[in-house]
Amino acid sequence: MKEMKTMVIKILYDRKTSDEKLAVGWGLSFLVDKKILFDAGETGSALVRNALSLGEDFDKLENIIISHDHWDHTGGLNDVLDRKKGLKVFVCPGYPELEKSITFRGGVPVNVEKSGLIISPNFFSSGPLPTFYKQKILTEQSLIIKTSQGVSVLTGCAHPGIVVIAEAVRGMFPTDQLYMIAGGMHLKDATPSEIEATALRLKSLGFQKAGPSHCSEELAEAIFKQVFKQGFVEVEVGRELTI
Ligand SMILES: [Fe+2]
Ligand SMILES: [Fe+2]
Repeated sequence: MKEMKTMVIKILYDRKTSDEKLAVGWGLSFLVDKKILFDAGETGSALVRNALSLGEDFDKLENIIISHDHWDHTGGLNDVLDRKKGLKVFVCPGYPELEKSITFRGGVPVNVEKSGLIISPNFFSSGPLPTFYKQKILTEQSLIIKTSQGVSVLTGCAHPGIVVIAEAVRGMFPTDQLYMIAGGMHLKDATPSEIEATALRLKSLGFQKAGPSHCSEELAEAIFKQVFKQGFVEVEVGRELTI
């Protein structure tokens, strides 16, 4: 077993930044340890431009994980596949059009329901968690990363519910230390008390750090800051998170 180390997550796409040279937009994209891309934002040109500005050309990229087939998470996928052929793209079941377009673009779609949940050493899918979205069944996966600091989770939109996802991860790794949970938490329509209960639940499950972004919006960020204090993680394009 390889010795575990820390890893760096670069935020390539989100709705805000402190660096005016970088593009912002709706959607999310995280690059983990140069090897794994989690989601691909809304627009390919902006995603690639941000990556290049941050010194990333996807040269060492090994795998892509798409949380769910919504435009704000797949928008830049084709542009990344154009830059490196033969990448595996891990997707949830129920998205045949997405799989077709990945193949067309020279990637290799991998359905996590068939492949199992191990992406590569220390990288796992939460598995496809189902929910109803606009009267249809939607499945969404989150990316789980194990480092020397513990288990961290990146979420796309968290349509199945951020607490449902966090509890599933706790169940998959019952004895590990939990470290960070960050990404879209879909709290934009939640009340302050619902948001506070959510933050407290994530904390009580054992997460030391939390970074709500994307469809979580400002109110959730403010309340999470109060609950997590030093453990609050600012998610914005250009920032690096060490896990
Ligand atoms: Fe989203
Ligand atoms: Fe979504």
